[in-house]
Amino acid sequence: MSNIVHVVGTGTIGEPLIGLLCDLRNELGIDEVTFYKHSPVLTDRPKVRGLLKRGGILAVRGEKVDEFRELGLEPTYTAEEAIERASVVIDCSPKGYGLENKEKYYKKYEDKVKAFLAQGSEFGFGKPYAVGINDEALGGDKYIQIVSCNTHNIAVAIKCVALEGGNDNLVSGRFVCIRRASDISQDSKFIPSPYVNEHKDEKFGTHHARDVWHLYKTLGLDLDVFSSALKINTQYMHSIWFDIRVKRETSDEEIKQRFIENPRVAITYKKLSNLVFSFGRDHGHYGRILNQTVVVLPTIRVRDGKEVFGFCFTPQDGNSLLSSVSAVVHILHPEEYEERMKALSPFLFNEV
Ligand SMILES: NC(=O)c1ccc[n+]([C@@H]2O[C@H](COP(=O)([O-])OP(=O)(O)OC[C@H]3O[C@@H](n4cnc5c(N)ncnc54)[C@H](OP(=O)(O)O)[C@@H]3O)[C@@H](O)[C@H]2O)c1
Repeated sequence: MSNIVHVVGTGTIGEPLIGLLCDLRNELGIDEVTFYKHSPVLTDRPKVRGLLKRGGILAVRGEKVDEFRELGLEPTYTAEEAIERASVVIDCSPKGYGLENKEKYYKKYEDKVKAFLAQGSEFGFGKPYAVGINDEALGGDKYIQIVSCNTHNIAVAIKCVALEGGNDNLVSGRFVCIRRASDISQDSKFIPSPYVNEHKDEKFGTHHARDVWHLYKTLGLDLDVFSSALKINTQYMHSIWFDIRVKRETSDEEIKQRFIENPRVAITYKKLSNLVFSFGRDHGHYGRILNQTVVVLPTIRVRDGKEVFGFCFTPQDGNSLLSSVSAVVHILHPEEYEERMKALSPFLFNEV
Protein backbone atom coordinates (compact mmCIF):
# COMPACT_ATOMS: atom_id res chain seq x y z
CA MET A 1 0.00 0.00 0.00
CA SER A 2 1.49 3.34 -1.08
CA ASN A 3 0.95 6.58 0.72
CA ILE A 4 -0.13 9.00 -1.98
CA VAL A 5 -1.05 12.62 -1.29
CA HIS A 6 -2.99 14.42 -4.01
CA VAL A 7 -3.25 18.22 -3.98
CA VAL A 8 -6.06 19.88 -5.97
CA GLY A 9 -5.05 23.39 -7.09
CA THR A 10 -1.70 25.07 -7.62
CA GLY A 11 -2.50 28.58 -6.31
CA THR A 12 -1.30 30.52 -3.28
CA ILE A 13 -1.78 27.52 -0.99
CA GLY A 14 -1.55 24.59 -3.43
CA GLU A 15 1.76 25.52 -5.03
CA PRO A 16 3.83 25.77 -1.82
CA LEU A 17 2.04 22.77 -0.32
CA ILE A 18 2.94 20.55 -3.28
CA GLY A 19 6.54 21.79 -3.07
CA LEU A 20 6.76 21.22 0.69
CA LEU A 21 5.29 17.70 0.46
CA CYS A 22 7.68 16.82 -2.38
CA ASP A 23 10.75 18.19 -0.58
CA LEU A 24 9.96 16.39 2.70
CA ARG A 25 8.46 13.26 1.15
CA ASN A 26 10.87 10.82 2.80
CA GLU A 27 10.75 12.40 6.25
CA LEU A 28 6.94 12.61 6.16
CA GLY A 29 6.54 9.01 4.93
CA ILE A 30 4.87 9.87 1.61
CA ASP A 31 5.52 7.67 -1.44
CA GLU A 32 4.05 9.92 -4.10
CA VAL A 33 2.74 13.48 -4.45
CA THR A 34 0.29 14.10 -7.27
CA PHE A 35 -1.34 17.42 -8.10
CA TYR A 36 -4.23 18.69 -10.17
CA LYS A 37 -3.71 21.71 -12.42
CA HIS A 38 -6.95 23.28 -13.55
CA SER A 39 -6.15 25.65 -16.42
CA PRO A 40 -3.66 24.97 -19.23
CA VAL A 41 -2.10 28.44 -19.19
CA LEU A 42 1.20 29.37 -20.83
CA THR A 43 2.22 31.69 -17.99
CA ASP A 44 1.80 28.85 -15.47
CA ARG A 45 4.09 26.50 -17.44
CA PRO A 46 7.25 27.31 -15.43
CA LYS A 47 5.35 26.72 -12.18
CA VAL A 48 4.16 23.29 -13.32
CA ARG A 49 7.61 22.39 -14.63
CA GLY A 50 9.12 23.44 -11.29
CA LEU A 51 6.70 21.21 -9.38
CA LEU A 52 7.37 18.27 -11.73
CA LYS A 53 11.10 18.76 -11.21
CA ARG A 54 10.63 18.57 -7.46
CA GLY A 55 8.92 15.19 -7.86
CA GLY A 56 5.23 16.06 -8.21
CA ILE A 57 3.09 14.13 -10.71
CA LEU A 58 0.61 16.02 -12.89
CA ALA A 59 -3.11 15.28 -13.19
CA VAL A 60 -5.52 17.24 -15.41
CA ARG A 61 -9.06 16.82 -16.67
CA GLY A 62 -9.29 14.21 -19.46
CA GLU A 63 -10.70 16.73 -21.91
CA LYS A 64 -7.76 19.12 -21.31
CA VAL A 65 -4.91 16.62 -21.82
CA ASP A 66 -4.23 17.79 -25.38
CA GLU A 67 -4.10 21.45 -24.36
CA PHE A 68 -1.51 20.63 -21.68
CA ARG A 69 0.48 18.58 -24.23
CA GLU A 70 0.48 21.57 -26.58
CA LEU A 71 2.22 23.49 -23.80
CA GLY A 72 4.83 20.75 -23.52
CA LEU A 73 3.43 19.41 -20.23
CA GLU A 74 2.73 15.68 -20.02
CA PRO A 75 -0.09 14.73 -17.61
CA THR A 76 0.20 11.29 -15.97
CA TYR A 77 -3.32 10.93 -14.56
CA THR A 78 -6.76 12.32 -15.16
CA ALA A 79 -8.31 14.32 -12.32
CA GLU A 80 -10.52 11.45 -11.16
CA GLU A 81 -7.81 8.78 -11.49
CA ALA A 82 -5.61 10.87 -9.21
CA ILE A 83 -8.38 11.18 -6.60
CA GLU A 84 -9.22 7.49 -6.76
CA ARG A 85 -5.64 6.31 -6.16
CA ALA A 86 -4.85 8.84 -3.39
CA SER A 87 -4.56 8.07 0.32
CA VAL A 88 -5.27 11.72 1.20
CA VAL A 89 -6.71 14.46 -1.03
CA ILE A 90 -6.04 18.12 -0.12
CA ASP A 91 -8.35 20.53 -1.89
CA CYS A 92 -6.78 23.97 -2.40
CA SER A 93 -9.21 25.29 -5.00
CA PRO A 94 -10.87 28.73 -4.83
CA LYS A 95 -13.76 29.59 -2.52
CA GLY A 96 -16.76 27.30 -2.93
CA TYR A 97 -15.09 24.75 -5.18
CA GLY A 98 -13.97 22.53 -2.29
CA LEU A 99 -17.61 22.06 -1.27
CA GLU A 100 -18.59 21.51 -4.90
CA ASN A 101 -15.78 19.02 -5.48
CA LYS A 102 -16.88 17.12 -2.37
CA GLU A 103 -20.36 16.59 -3.83
CA LYS A 104 -19.21 15.97 -7.40
CA TYR A 105 -16.11 13.82 -6.91
CA TYR A 106 -14.93 13.09 -3.37
CA LYS A 107 -18.10 11.35 -2.17
CA LYS A 108 -17.64 8.79 -4.98
CA TYR A 109 -14.26 7.72 -3.63
CA GLU A 110 -14.94 7.72 0.12
CA ASP A 111 -14.16 3.99 0.51
CA LYS A 112 -10.82 4.29 -1.30
CA VAL A 113 -9.42 7.55 0.09
CA LYS A 114 -8.60 7.76 3.81
CA ALA A 115 -9.45 11.45 4.17
CA PHE A 116 -10.22 14.63 2.26
CA LEU A 117 -8.98 18.03 3.45
CA ALA A 118 -10.11 21.46 2.29
CA GLN A 119 -8.96 24.96 3.21
CA GLY A 120 -10.21 28.05 5.03
CA SER A 121 -13.01 29.23 2.78
CA GLU A 122 -14.79 25.84 2.74
CA PHE A 123 -16.90 26.24 5.89
CA GLY A 124 -18.93 23.08 6.44
CA PHE A 125 -16.59 20.80 4.45
CA GLY A 126 -15.60 18.79 7.52
CA LYS A 127 -14.20 18.97 11.03
CA PRO A 128 -12.32 22.27 11.55
CA TYR A 129 -8.67 21.71 12.46
CA ALA A 130 -5.61 23.73 13.45
CA VAL A 131 -2.45 22.03 14.67
CA GLY A 132 -1.73 22.48 18.36
CA ILE A 133 -5.30 23.63 19.01
CA ASN A 134 -7.54 20.58 18.57
CA ASP A 135 -5.37 17.61 17.57
CA GLU A 136 -7.18 15.50 20.15
CA ALA A 137 -10.47 16.11 18.31
CA LEU A 138 -9.15 14.37 15.17
CA GLY A 139 -9.73 10.66 14.75
CA GLY A 140 -11.07 8.78 11.77
CA ASP A 141 -12.59 11.89 10.17
CA LYS A 142 -13.26 11.49 6.44
CA TYR A 143 -13.56 15.27 5.90
CA ILE A 144 -11.39 17.92 7.56
CA GLN A 145 -11.33 21.69 7.05
CA ILE A 146 -7.98 23.35 7.70
CA VAL A 147 -9.15 26.65 9.15
CA SER A 148 -8.11 29.95 7.58
CA CYS A 149 -4.87 31.74 8.37
CA ASN A 150 -6.49 34.40 10.56
CA THR A 151 -8.52 31.75 12.37
CA HIS A 152 -5.23 30.00 13.21
CA ASN A 153 -3.84 33.27 14.53
CA ILE A 154 -6.89 34.10 16.66
CA ALA A 155 -7.03 30.52 17.97
CA VAL A 156 -3.45 30.52 19.17
CA ALA A 157 -3.80 34.00 20.71
CA ILE A 158 -6.80 32.75 22.71
CA LYS A 159 -4.87 29.65 23.73
CA CYS A 160 -1.82 31.58 24.97
CA VAL A 161 -3.69 34.42 26.68
CA ALA A 162 -6.63 32.62 28.22
CA LEU A 163 -6.73 28.84 27.93
CA GLU A 164 -3.27 28.06 29.33
CA GLY A 165 -4.83 29.40 32.53
CA GLY A 166 -7.62 26.77 32.38
CA ASN A 167 -10.45 25.97 29.97
CA ASP A 168 -12.87 28.20 31.90
CA ASN A 169 -10.57 31.25 31.97
CA LEU A 170 -11.78 33.14 28.87
CA VAL A 171 -14.41 35.82 29.46
CA SER A 172 -14.43 37.24 25.92
CA GLY A 173 -12.23 37.79 22.89
CA ARG A 174 -12.52 40.74 20.47
CA PHE A 175 -10.42 40.78 17.32
CA VAL A 176 -9.77 43.14 14.43
CA CYS A 177 -8.31 41.38 11.39
CA ILE A 178 -6.38 43.95 9.37
CA ARG A 179 -5.93 42.05 6.15
CA ARG A 180 -3.51 42.39 3.26
CA ALA A 181 -5.27 43.26 0.03
CA SER A 182 -3.87 40.39 -2.04
CA ASP A 183 -1.08 37.84 -1.98
CA ILE A 184 2.14 38.62 -3.80
CA SER A 185 1.33 35.66 -6.06
CA GLN A 186 -1.95 37.25 -7.14
CA ASP A 187 -2.51 39.75 -9.94
CA SER A 188 -5.88 41.22 -9.01
CA LYS A 189 -7.99 42.56 -6.14
CA PHE A 190 -5.49 45.20 -5.06
CA ILE A 191 -7.29 48.15 -3.43
CA PRO A 192 -6.44 51.86 -3.37
CA SER A 193 -7.24 52.44 0.32
CA PRO A 194 -8.62 50.71 3.45
CA TYR A 195 -11.78 48.72 2.77
CA VAL A 196 -13.94 47.79 5.76
CA ASN A 197 -16.17 44.74 6.03
CA GLU A 198 -19.71 44.59 7.36
CA HIS A 199 -20.51 42.56 10.48
CA LYS A 200 -22.65 40.09 8.56
CA ASP A 201 -22.79 37.56 11.37
CA GLU A 202 -25.00 38.75 14.24
CA LYS A 203 -23.22 36.69 16.85
CA PHE A 204 -19.62 36.63 15.62
CA GLY A 205 -19.24 39.72 13.37
CA THR A 206 -17.12 38.18 10.60
CA HIS A 207 -16.32 34.59 9.70
CA HIS A 208 -13.03 34.68 11.59
CA ALA A 209 -14.62 34.57 15.05
CA ARG A 210 -17.31 32.20 13.81
CA ASP A 211 -14.67 29.78 12.56
CA VAL A 212 -12.63 29.98 15.75
CA TRP A 213 -15.78 29.28 17.76
CA HIS A 214 -16.40 26.13 15.68
CA LEU A 215 -12.76 25.10 16.04
CA TYR A 216 -12.93 25.24 19.84
CA LYS A 217 -16.40 23.67 19.80
CA THR A 218 -14.70 20.42 18.66
CA LEU A 219 -13.18 20.43 22.19
CA GLY A 220 -16.53 21.14 23.81
CA LEU A 221 -15.85 24.86 24.47
CA ASP A 222 -18.38 27.62 23.83
CA LEU A 223 -16.33 30.84 23.60
CA ASP A 224 -17.57 34.44 23.55
CA VAL A 225 -15.70 35.74 20.50
CA PHE A 226 -16.37 38.54 18.01
CA SER A 227 -14.32 39.79 15.07
CA SER A 228 -14.18 42.72 12.66
CA ALA A 229 -12.19 42.84 9.45
CA LEU A 230 -10.81 45.34 6.98
CA LYS A 231 -8.40 45.18 4.08
CA ILE A 232 -5.54 47.60 3.64
CA ASN A 233 -3.42 48.32 0.60
CA THR A 234 -0.45 46.14 1.43
CA GLN A 235 0.63 42.69 0.24
CA TYR A 236 2.72 41.94 3.31
CA MET A 237 0.83 39.80 5.80
CA HIS A 238 -2.33 40.25 7.83
CA SER A 239 -2.19 41.92 11.26
CA ILE A 240 -4.53 41.17 14.14
CA TRP A 241 -5.40 43.38 17.09
CA PHE A 242 -6.87 41.59 20.08
CA ASP A 243 -8.64 42.45 23.33
CA ILE A 244 -9.03 39.30 25.42
CA ARG A 245 -10.65 39.34 28.86
CA VAL A 246 -9.83 36.63 31.36
CA LYS A 247 -11.22 35.56 34.74
CA ARG A 248 -7.96 34.99 36.57
CA GLU A 249 -5.58 37.86 37.19
CA THR A 250 -2.49 37.96 35.00
CA SER A 251 0.41 40.24 34.07
CA ASP A 252 2.34 41.47 31.03
CA GLU A 253 5.23 39.16 31.90
CA GLU A 254 3.07 36.06 32.33
CA ILE A 255 1.32 36.58 28.97
CA LYS A 256 4.59 37.29 27.15
CA GLN A 257 6.08 34.12 28.64
CA ARG A 258 3.15 32.02 27.41
CA PHE A 259 3.64 33.29 23.86
CA ILE A 260 7.39 32.65 24.13
CA GLU A 261 6.82 29.07 25.32
CA ASN A 262 4.31 28.07 22.63
CA PRO A 263 6.26 26.03 20.06
CA ARG A 264 4.21 27.31 17.12
CA VAL A 265 4.40 31.00 18.02
CA ALA A 266 7.23 33.28 16.95
CA ILE A 267 7.82 36.46 18.88
CA THR A 268 9.16 39.61 17.28
CA TYR A 269 10.29 43.07 18.28
CA LYS A 270 9.78 44.26 14.70
CA LYS A 271 6.84 46.59 14.21
CA LEU A 272 6.69 46.59 10.41
CA SER A 273 5.19 43.48 8.84
CA ASN A 274 7.36 43.75 5.71
CA LEU A 275 10.41 43.11 7.91
CA VAL A 276 8.80 39.94 9.25
CA PHE A 277 7.87 38.91 5.72
CA SER A 278 11.39 39.62 4.55
CA PHE A 279 12.87 37.41 7.29
CA GLY A 280 10.78 34.59 5.82
CA ARG A 281 12.35 35.14 2.39
CA ASP A 282 15.79 34.38 3.77
CA HIS A 283 15.08 31.79 6.45
CA GLY A 284 11.75 30.13 5.67
CA HIS A 285 10.79 27.30 3.31
CA TYR A 286 10.79 29.03 -0.08
CA GLY A 287 10.16 32.28 1.77
CA ARG A 288 7.54 31.04 4.20
CA ILE A 289 7.65 30.78 7.94
CA LEU A 290 5.23 28.12 9.17
CA ASN A 291 4.41 29.59 12.59
CA GLN A 292 0.78 30.10 13.53
CA THR A 293 1.43 33.69 14.49
CA VAL A 294 4.18 36.22 14.95
CA VAL A 295 3.29 38.17 18.07
CA VAL A 296 4.76 41.63 18.51
CA LEU A 297 5.95 41.26 22.08
CA PRO A 298 6.26 44.98 23.00
CA THR A 299 2.57 45.49 22.13
CA ILE A 300 1.35 43.14 24.87
CA ARG A 301 -0.39 45.12 27.57
CA VAL A 302 -2.49 43.83 30.48
CA ARG A 303 -5.01 46.35 31.84
CA ASP A 304 -6.39 45.98 35.36
CA GLY A 305 -4.98 42.44 35.54
CA LYS A 306 -7.76 40.91 33.46
CA GLU A 307 -7.80 42.47 30.01
CA VAL A 308 -5.04 41.67 27.52
CA PHE A 309 -4.27 43.75 24.43
CA GLY A 310 -1.76 43.12 21.66
CA PHE A 311 -0.93 42.87 17.99
CA CYS A 312 0.32 39.97 15.92
CA PHE A 313 1.11 39.27 12.28
CA THR A 314 -0.38 36.28 10.45
CA PRO A 315 1.91 34.07 8.34
CA GLN A 316 -0.97 33.80 5.91
CA ASP A 317 -0.03 30.74 3.98
CA GLY A 318 2.51 29.27 6.41
CA ASN A 319 0.13 28.33 9.19
CA SER A 320 -2.31 26.65 6.78
CA LEU A 321 0.58 24.69 5.28
CA LEU A 322 1.69 23.56 8.74
CA SER A 323 -1.78 22.30 9.68
CA SER A 324 -2.30 20.67 6.26
CA VAL A 325 0.93 18.68 6.63
CA SER A 326 0.13 17.92 10.27
CA ALA A 327 -3.29 16.50 9.31
CA VAL A 328 -1.66 14.33 6.61
CA VAL A 329 0.83 12.91 9.13
CA HIS A 330 -1.96 12.28 11.68
CA ILE A 331 -3.82 10.31 8.98
CA LEU A 332 -0.91 8.39 7.46
CA HIS A 333 1.38 7.85 10.44
CA PRO A 334 -0.46 8.41 13.72
CA GLU A 335 2.08 6.32 15.67
CA GLU A 336 5.07 8.28 14.34
CA TYR A 337 3.45 11.71 14.41
CA GLU A 338 5.89 13.52 16.71
CA GLU A 339 8.97 12.10 15.01
CA ARG A 340 7.84 12.85 11.47
CA MET A 341 6.67 16.39 12.26
CA LYS A 342 10.24 17.25 13.28
CA ALA A 343 10.93 17.64 9.55
CA LEU A 344 9.07 20.97 9.71
CA SER A 345 10.90 22.37 12.70
CA PRO A 346 13.55 24.25 10.63
CA PHE A 347 10.71 26.48 9.39
CA LEU A 348 9.19 27.17 12.82
CA PHE A 349 10.95 30.06 14.51
CA ASN A 350 11.02 31.16 18.14
CA GLU A 351 11.88 34.70 17.16
CA VAL A 352 11.66 36.66 13.92
N1 LIG B 1 -4.25 32.81 0.03
C1 LIG B 1 -4.02 32.60 1.30
O1 LIG B 1 -3.16 33.23 1.92
C2 LIG B 1 -4.79 31.55 2.04
C3 LIG B 1 -4.47 31.30 3.37
C4 LIG B 1 -5.12 30.29 4.05
C5 LIG B 1 -6.10 29.57 3.43
N2 LIG B 1 -6.43 29.84 2.12
C6 LIG B 1 -7.48 29.03 1.49
O2 LIG B 1 -6.90 28.18 0.50
C7 LIG B 1 -7.86 27.93 -0.53
C8 LIG B 1 -7.24 28.28 -1.87
O3 LIG B 1 -6.94 29.66 -1.86
P1 LIG B 1 -5.76 30.24 -2.75
O4 LIG B 1 -5.49 31.62 -2.23
O5 LIG B 1 -4.62 29.27 -2.83
O6 LIG B 1 -6.49 30.33 -4.17
P2 LIG B 1 -5.86 30.67 -5.58
O7 LIG B 1 -4.50 31.26 -5.43
O8 LIG B 1 -6.89 31.39 -6.34
O9 LIG B 1 -5.65 29.22 -6.26
C9 LIG B 1 -6.72 28.38 -6.57
C10 LIG B 1 -6.25 27.20 -7.39
O10 LIG B 1 -7.37 26.36 -7.68
C11 LIG B 1 -7.40 26.02 -9.06
N3 LIG B 1 -8.79 25.86 -9.51
C12 LIG B 1 -9.59 26.76 -10.09
N4 LIG B 1 -10.81 26.25 -10.33
C13 LIG B 1 -10.76 24.97 -9.88
C14 LIG B 1 -11.70 23.90 -9.85
N5 LIG B 1 -12.92 24.04 -10.34
N6 LIG B 1 -11.32 22.72 -9.33
C15 LIG B 1 -10.09 22.56 -8.82
N7 LIG B 1 -9.16 23.53 -8.82
C16 LIG B 1 -9.49 24.73 -9.35
C17 LIG B 1 -6.69 27.16 -9.76
O11 LIG B 1 -6.11 26.61 -10.92
P3 LIG B 1 -5.76 27.44 -12.25
O12 LIG B 1 -4.93 28.59 -11.82
O13 LIG B 1 -5.00 26.44 -13.05
O14 LIG B 1 -7.07 27.83 -12.86
C18 LIG B 1 -5.65 27.57 -8.72
O15 LIG B 1 -4.48 26.78 -8.87
C19 LIG B 1 -9.11 28.75 -0.17
O16 LIG B 1 -9.98 27.89 0.57
C20 LIG B 1 -8.57 29.80 0.76
O17 LIG B 1 -9.53 30.25 1.69
C21 LIG B 1 -5.79 30.81 1.39
